[in-house]
Amino acid sequence: MKVTVVGTGYVGLVAGTCFSHIGIDVMCLDVDARKIDLLSSGGIPIFEPGLDALVRDGREAGKLHFTTSYDEAVEHGEIVFIAVGTPPGEDGSADLQYVLGVAGEVGRRITRPTIIVNKSTVPVGTAEKVRQVVSDALKERNLSMEFAVVSNPEFLREGVAIRDFMEPDRIVVGGDVDWAVEKMRRLYAPLNHDRDNIMVMDTKSAELTKYAANAMLATRISFMNELAGLSARLGADIEAVRRGIGSDPRIGPHFLYPGCGYGGSCFPKDVQALIQMAGQNNVDLGILEATERANERQKRVLFEMLSSFYKAKGGLSGRTIAVWGIAFKPNTDDVREAPSRVLIGELIQAGAKVRVYDPEAGGQGELLFPDRSSVVIARSAEDAIEGADALAIVTEWAEFRNPSFAGLARTLRDRAIFDGRNMYRLEEVEAAGLSYFQIGRGPRIAA
Ligand SMILES: NC(=O)c1ccc[n+]([C@@H]2O[C@H](COP(=O)([O-])OP(=O)(O)OC[C@H]3O[C@@H](n4cnc5c(N)ncnc54)[C@H](O)[C@@H]3O)[C@@H](O)[C@H]2O)c1
Repeated sequence: MKVTVVGTGYVGLVAGTCFSHIGIDVMCLDVDARKIDLLSSGGIPIFEPGLDALVRDGREAGKLHFTTSYDEAVEHGEIVFIAVGTPPGEDGSADLQYVLGVAGEVGRRITRPTIIVNKSTVPVGTAEKVRQVVSDALKERNLSMEFAVVSNPEFLREGVAIRDFMEPDRIVVGGDVDWAVEKMRRLYAPLNHDRDNIMVMDTKSAELTKYAANAMLATRISFMNELAGLSARLGADIEAVRRGIGSDPRIGPHFLYPGCGYGGSCFPKDVQALIQMAGQNNVDLGILEATERANERQKRVLFEMLSSFYKAKGGLSGRTIAVWGIAFKPNTDDVREAPSRVLIGELIQAGAKVRVYDPEAGGQGELLFPDRSSVVIARSAEDAIEGADALAIVTEWAEFRNPSFAGLARTLRDRAIFDGRNMYRLEEVEAAGLSYFQIGRGPRIAA
């Protein structure tokens, strides 16, 4: 089977590469020529564990090709995946210009029955819009040709994207054209042999399923973050509460971790897009508005903790704060909507200097914070704390899990850690003579 994937970002590159790994002949297209040049010459534009080796294998096996040419790409695939970005427009609704742009390019070129698959996260009704654009393009060519539009939203998580793609919890296929649905079943069969994970539904339900999943997860996080605020005020321990409720099978343990806010390319924009969809249809989804508001507040929580600590010491101006983590979560270099951006921005505004380290997102940090007089991109976690007054932790990378607390106590002038991910045991940190501030666990100042 031959497949084309349009859009070679986190989703398109992982999907295309994984398909090539199960023996499908894949052509990946992107309009970003630098990305395609890099991939064609053996490089890789993003950090995703295990992806570089799979891309190399796919290229060497002659199963994975890269191009910027729509002629070549549309000619190649009997199934064409659209995996381009759907960023929020000004009002928060998903901007469909890239998805519909691709639909037009495909419609102007197809010469045989083709399945066009929306893999991008798109509002309900987009499959129909894509169908219309392709249909119009065919009419302009005076061609009548069978084609089908299928909705196949992606649920992979950055950081574990390959495993998620190769061993999916579910494969949602939205479509009502039998031959197209059957072909999708055949395409995914190698990923579906242990248990039948394919869920066939109408395109609208498939489109809504993706938003519903992300909105549910974002809401759980915001609920826990708000509860953490209350927990701290009441003198309760949110970590104990988390374990107490997560053991209930009706609730489950996942996505109950309080922190300094969710980020990434999906949750923030998908929550916003779903709010817009509800509004346009006169449906009140107030719960999601609260989810979003809570998250905006939560992204400021580390800064507020630092501000109140330094209030009694004359403020943050002139202080040097070490920050561990730029990426929105571990095992990715993705910094879109990352809470680190809010914290570092606020620290700079307050007149502090920042020494920040991230194992993979340092390059992105250099682009985000170009003023080296206020933000230094450190080479290691140890380098970041050199000359710092306090440490803030934003991303729970594994390499931050076991620091030398004695070393931190010697190096940090004010001997204080502000932990946005509740990574350590309080007793251990305090035993080293450090003040340890966590989310939802009340202020603890070393004697
Ligand atoms: N990143 C995730 O974890 C994730 C997970 C599930 C779903 N999604 C959804 O998948 C879609 C893609 O997300 P992403 O994170 O991979 O985005 P991305 O920004 O990493 O990649 C998008 C790619 O599309 C390319 N592109 C844009 N317009 C194009 C065009 N007209 N023709 C060809 N290429 C074009 C861009 O150059 C870019 O390389 C979004 O709708 C997103 O919501 C993302």
